[in-house]
Amino acid sequence: MNEIPESVVTEVNRLRDEIQAHNYRYYSLDAPVIPDVEYDRLFARLIELEAAWPSLVIDTSPTQRVGAVPLSRFSTVDHEVPMLSLDNAFSVADMTDFDRRARERLGNITVLTYACEPKMDGIAVNLRYENGVLVRAATRGDGQTGEDITQNVRTIKSVPLVLQGQGYPPLLEVRGEVFMPKAAFAELNRQAEREQTKRFVNPRNAAAGSLRQLDSRITASRKLEIYCYGLGKVSDDGFCSSHLDSLACLSRWGLRVNPYAVPAHGLEACIAYYNDMLARRDQLPYEIDGLVFKVNDFSLQRELGFVSRAPRWAIAYKFPAQEEITQVIDVEFQVGRTGAVTPVARLSPVFVGGVTVSNATLHNMEEIQRLDLHVGDWVTVRRAGDVIPQIVSVLVERRPLEIIRVTLPDLCPVCQAPVVQLEGEAVARCSGGLYCQAQRKEAIKHFASRKAMNIDGLGDKIVDALVDNGWVESVADLYRLTTDQVASLDRMGKKSAANLVGAIDKSRQTRLANFIYALGIREVGEATARTLAKRFRNLDALMQSTAAILQQVPDVGPVVAGHILAFFREPHNVSVIQQLLAEGIHWPEVSDVTTDHPLKDKVFVLTGTLETLSREQAKSQLLALGAIVRDSVSQKTDFVVAGAAAGTKLEQAKRLGVPVLDESRLSEMLKMS
Ligand code: IVH
Repeated sequence: MNEIPESVVTEVNRLRDEIQAHNYRYYSLDAPVIPDVEYDRLFARLIELEAAWPSLVIDTSPTQRVGAVPLSRFSTVDHEVPMLSLDNAFSVADMTDFDRRARERLGNITVLTYACEPKMDGIAVNLRYENGVLVRAATRGDGQTGEDITQNVRTIKSVPLVLQGQGYPPLLEVRGEVFMPKAAFAELNRQAEREQTKRFVNPRNAAAGSLRQLDSRITASRKLEIYCYGLGKVSDDGFCSSHLDSLACLSRWGLRVNPYAVPAHGLEACIAYYNDMLARRDQLPYEIDGLVFKVNDFSLQRELGFVSRAPRWAIAYKFPAQEEITQVIDVEFQVGRTGAVTPVARLSPVFVGGVTVSNATLHNMEEIQRLDLHVGDWVTVRRAGDVIPQIVSVLVERRPLEIIRVTLPDLCPVCQAPVVQLEGEAVARCSGGLYCQAQRKEAIKHFASRKAMNIDGLGDKIVDALVDNGWVESVADLYRLTTDQVASLDRMGKKSAANLVGAIDKSRQTRLANFIYALGIREVGEATARTLAKRFRNLDALMQSTAAILQQVPDVGPVVAGHILAFFREPHNVSVIQQLLAEGIHWPEVSDVTTDHPLKDKVFVLTGTLETLSREQAKSQLLALGAIVRDSVSQKTDFVVAGAAAGTKLEQAKRLGVPVLDESRLSEMLKMS
């Protein structure tokens, strides 16, 4: 064996200390002091030295977090101090009772100081440190006996493998909650979707599933985090006298504690904290299912003691649940603006995430198959934040005898046109186009929306009524409505009718980008509409365009180009556009943005028959690049493009010395950027 040079040992030790300190700043405090590349360099150097001198590798090295050889099963661990649970409060009244009982037991103390902290929605773990080294991590299990998940917990970067600083007891058990941040959960499910594997229903399940992997390399690939909130067995608990003190110590030793842990003097301050945190809930990067209030003083905690499995000195004040169970009464199919036929579950109304939910989108038939959902099934509904309610799972064990399979209708439920589903597409569509009342209504709502024609006051109900009455068949009909007509609608006064007709009139003056967006071409959102307006600068140019030209526009690929072409190929659409223009829809000229294109302001004359492009198409493409296209050749003409059988214009060009381009040369020029 080669003798390990002293300098290597020193460097390895220094690197480990440094990396550990950076880990703490980065993972526990969210306050890194060096850029990632610098950290990566330190890490790479440590790996290099450990590879060169394998006998230097120790368990607590920061490099040893990548996961280990898979286990065949988890061994069990007896908790020296049981891991208890908490009583729940669901209302201010429950909290008032809790506070009163505690104060009474403590000899009618007038005000108690509480430590308030978020109740993390994750998995409880016990971390055992002996002489500052993480020796074991275990799940809560039944509170007395848990499972040894040391290998897995070691992969969580915010769990220190060795404690930092001084003064920690030789035996220190720390309790905390392992959780998966919302963003990591969303990413994990996106990946599951891509790889067609099972999705997790919520971040808590994802954390549990990740932590209970026999192969810790899988755990290592999941973005888990920890917040520590308490102590287990401790050889000497004299290091602190209150809960918040203990959290401060844990933090100093490198353990991660929630920065929202604060003291509150008395019940009212606790309620204020509750309201404050409830308002923040959706903005937090992780899920919390409530708050925990703990009598802060350890001596008072000891005096209060425990009842059965929960302490008398702490309570969990739960937030409104974000998941509930309910029954599917029916599945209906809705038709959207682009004809997408979307299944929607009608639910037995249920209060979840702070609102009553009676519908949930099911997206498409694949989703129904994935969930194995039937009418009559009991389901878990989840509404987190302002996200639309989702059905996350079916409670198969609760399945009633009478259930009905959900099938995609053959005909559109609104217009009875055939429903078609293209190969490889998850979405089924009504083939009725704008003849379908549902699509028509949605198209009109879209046309009127703020980012489109911005017609103030043309709400969904009014659109429905206008279409149902047969007054508005296409968006052009909007501009022919009279105040009297509108005023005759249900619950519509003369004044609001006049306002609406005024708003419609006002929308005649618009912008090209808004108009393009308002047309509702599939997959042409605001941004694409804006780019198209900038590139083409005039509607005719866009309407005459070709797939090749369209695809030169940033963000327009073959699919979007196909949608645009199909839209303008439809005579009905062209007719509606003509009617709209005849009704006086207009926009200011689009400002010149193709400033840096070499063809900008160059004057072209096209003559003869072009082979690959029609003359109109060539013109539209030139206009899109900022060139000017004229009918006759003069001294101001920069180029004449001559196709087959070009006549007098070609002769004139030669006479005036104007450069003449053939079609291939023109194509090259059009490809310049
Ligand atoms: S203190 C004696 N604090 O909630 C019990 N628990 O219902 C001490 N939890 O199993 C628990 N965040 O998994 C405590 N800040 C927090 C918590 C928290 C989440 C979980 C923990 C425990 C369960 C109790």
